[in-house]
Amino acid sequence: MSETTTMQAGLPASNPGTGATKKVFVKTYGCQMNVYDSQRMADALAADGYAATEVMEEADLVLLNTCHIREKAAEKVYSELGRIRKLKAERASLGRDTVIGVAGCVAQAEGEEIVRRAPVVDIVIGPQTYHRLPDAVRKARDGGKVVETDYAIEDKFERLPAPRRAELRRRGVTAFLTVQEGCDKFCTFCVVPYTRGSEVSRPVAQIVREAEQLAAAGVREITLLGQNVNAWHGEGPDGRQWGLGELLFRLAEIAGIGRLRYTTSHPRDMDDALIAAHRDLDRLMPYLHLPVQAGSDRILKAMNRRHTADDYLRLIDRIRAARPDIALSGDFIVGFPGETDADFEATMQIVRDVTFVQAFSFKYSPRPGTPGADMDAQVDESVKDERLQRLQALLARQQREFADALVGRKTDVLIEKPGRSPGQWVGRSPWLMPVILDEKAGEIGDIVDVRINRAAANSLFAQAV
Ligand code: 5AD
Ligand code: SF4
Repeated sequence: MSETTTMQAGLPASNPGTGATKKVFVKTYGCQMNVYDSQRMADALAADGYAATEVMEEADLVLLNTCHIREKAAEKVYSELGRIRKLKAERASLGRDTVIGVAGCVAQAEGEEIVRRAPVVDIVIGPQTYHRLPDAVRKARDGGKVVETDYAIEDKFERLPAPRRAELRRRGVTAFLTVQEGCDKFCTFCVVPYTRGSEVSRPVAQIVREAEQLAAAGVREITLLGQNVNAWHGEGPDGRQWGLGELLFRLAEIAGIGRLRYTTSHPRDMDDALIAAHRDLDRLMPYLHLPVQAGSDRILKAMNRRHTADDYLRLIDRIRAARPDIALSGDFIVGFPGETDADFEATMQIVRDVTFVQAFSFKYSPRPGTPGADMDAQVDESVKDERLQRLQALLARQQREFADALVGRKTDVLIEKPGRSPGQWVGRSPWLMPVILDEKAGEIGDIVDVRINRAAANSLFAQAV
């Protein structure tokens, strides 16, 4: 999954009149799947009388939903726990109990070690066992420590209570929907196959039901989530084996869902039906996050990506033949063990050959337990720094050129919320970039036609046509 910055999960703030007596604060790190999981955890806790708060100091339950993808992401959790320890002591001096929980991939990867290193933690709960969270919280309130890290994913979504319609309405017109979790690819740099377990797909009926609930609550744009979302498969109502392409055709039939997206994909799993969905479904947005990681065949092999640079380029040609206006986004790693100057140049070259409108690029971070961490020829930090700077400069230039080329063009925008300045409205373009409108061009949730008249670094400015 591509990583977003640390963020509050966009949870609805405490709602008077729901009978909630306690408060939960959830802090989300890492990818969109964690954002989705944080919401599902909050939904499960709401049924137990917990209202969400955005103020950590007033929370009876503090949950950190963590990310283990790179060392930095994992270390942030321990520094946050240091601060939380003081907070818990302050609240205790006022006679208030605070339960502290660590969820997500650090919880899965480190388990009991977290309680040893940070005794302030009461609950460690891995991503496959969130349906047991309310129980764990009850035990912790009685003074127990709970560590739950088995893989029980088949049950997870069935046993988590469905979000309430009122909660959904407050979340707005775009939503995530997890369809698949886990990964069987074992790229040699990546912890995901260890923290999220092997690939599991949710059944079609469950996904359709959740999408219909979202649509009924006013959601207009759904992003299907999975660590390997295009490896999703399941039995269709027609008795045939479906892949993500077939699923998208089905979801596009739901009234009210004006836009569909999916993330994150692996190049090996882009099958014909999925490419056909890009050709035939207007509702499938012309935007695709398709990480390539590197451009050198030697490095791709060492990463166990199971494709060459040329395979990737030919795949992009096929996708562009199906949907000429598709915008591509990617993930890149520089300084993988053994990466020479020539290997890095190959990464720069594939970026020039493809052209990305958005990208996430990282210095390789050796993760304990992954094959890459034990490889010889680890690359110097200073070399990684220099390569990352060059790559990011190129990617930023491509992003800027894409935005500039949109000026003067017509497009559609999903209206999301009022903007910062009076009279301004914020919408979302087909390419994810926010669009600022200087007048109310429609109601929240409407998809309206606009003309783009200016491009800034991270947003577009437009007026209704
Ligand atoms: N070091 C650096 N980047 C990594 N990613 C995954 N594992 C590592 C690692 N050990 C990046 C990949 C992936 C994205 C989510 O994070 O580019 O696609
Ligand atoms: Fe990690 Fe590779 Fe699986 Fe993506 S495909 S989650 S990078 S192992």
